[in-house]
Amino acid sequence: MPLSRTQVGIVGAGPAGLVLSHLLHLQGIESVVLEARSRQYCEERIRAGVLEQGTVDLLTETGVGARLKREGLVHHGIELRFAGRGHRIDFKDLTGESGITIYAQHELIKDLIKARLDAAGQVLFDSDDVSVHDFDTAKPTIRFRKHKGDEVHELSCDFIVGCDGFHGVCRPSIPEGVLTTYERTYPFAWLGILAEVPPSADELIYAYHQRGFALLSMRSPSISRLYLQCTPDEDIVNWPDEKIWQELHTRLHSDGWKLTEGPIIQKGVTGMRSAVVEPMQRGRLFLAGDAAHIVPPTGAKGLNLAVADVRILARALSEFYTSGQTTLLADYSKTCLRRVWKVQRFSWWMTSMLHVFSDDNPFDQRRQLAELDYVTSSRAAAKTLAENYVGLPFD
Ligand code: PHB
Repeated sequence: MPLSRTQVGIVGAGPAGLVLSHLLHLQGIESVVLEARSRQYCEERIRAGVLEQGTVDLLTETGVGARLKREGLVHHGIELRFAGRGHRIDFKDLTGESGITIYAQHELIKDLIKARLDAAGQVLFDSDDVSVHDFDTAKPTIRFRKHKGDEVHELSCDFIVGCDGFHGVCRPSIPEGVLTTYERTYPFAWLGILAEVPPSADELIYAYHQRGFALLSMRSPSISRLYLQCTPDEDIVNWPDEKIWQELHTRLHSDGWKLTEGPIIQKGVTGMRSAVVEPMQRGRLFLAGDAAHIVPPTGAKGLNLAVADVRILARALSEFYTSGQTTLLADYSKTCLRRVWKVQRFSWWMTSMLHVFSDDNPFDQRRQLAELDYVTSSRAAAKTLAENYVGLPFD
């Protein structure tokens, strides 16, 4: 069996795996990233697009933020729309931060892959049959085939990091009984579209309506991204383009404002779930990003949380390689989980405030409207939304 060696074996070339590999490289630590999908798939997969200021700063400081700075759209607020009226949450005024940047995840993925490959980093796409072993020892290994049908390779590492998403192979490799999963599912999903039309507003609009939540977002000055709350098992064939636009008009309605339609170039249904596993580590196997936790997309936090995890892990690994100490590594899970749970709380809160739950009664609807009224009229309440949305500080 062909054998190779690296310091850190990373499973998954999403934001967590690529940012980690990049940060480690800058600290002189070698890694290999194994990815089951093709490069093209990773670079085209449509995901979220909101970057916290801290995420932007990290990418910029580490030399992968040039295109993001050029092409990203900086926003200083969002709108909450309900009862037919819009209310702006002004991030700059409320937090003093510059805000958030709209930049599609797959564009960031392209930048990160390019940076890794330009630095002669190893990112092995189309890896097959990836499995992780011996992470309870000092010599963990990853077995994989370079391509489907090839012979099995063994990569021996000092550490393995599972950045392979919620349905990846790393987390289920941890023996039963070690991890506790905390989760909540929601009785709805999001139907998302990309449309070739300039966004009908300069900032994101989160709308609460009796028929369900709607969101107006964007990818660029000429591409809009819009979502509608739908049922979890929604069949996209039941949603011809005219019906989608009709529903968006209804839910986003506000006097004097117009939603402009355009050709729909992509549509799909996104599930909603909140989940955390504890701890985020077993022996020399660490979990980061969606492999350890999932947030519903209402708070736009998934990518940012993945980056926060690997920033902590990169620092801990750097301490290990420079001093041999394992203090930060031992604290990895605890350090991450403090942020993870705060972000879970925020994402759950945004989701519950803005969606219609099937078992809601008129009391719940009035309570939800009162909450929206409170958040948009009390400076203290608006500030808690704003500081969470732009991103909690790192400690
Ligand atoms: C998106 O643009 O895809 C998006 C924006 C805000 C969210 C979720 C998704 O809360």
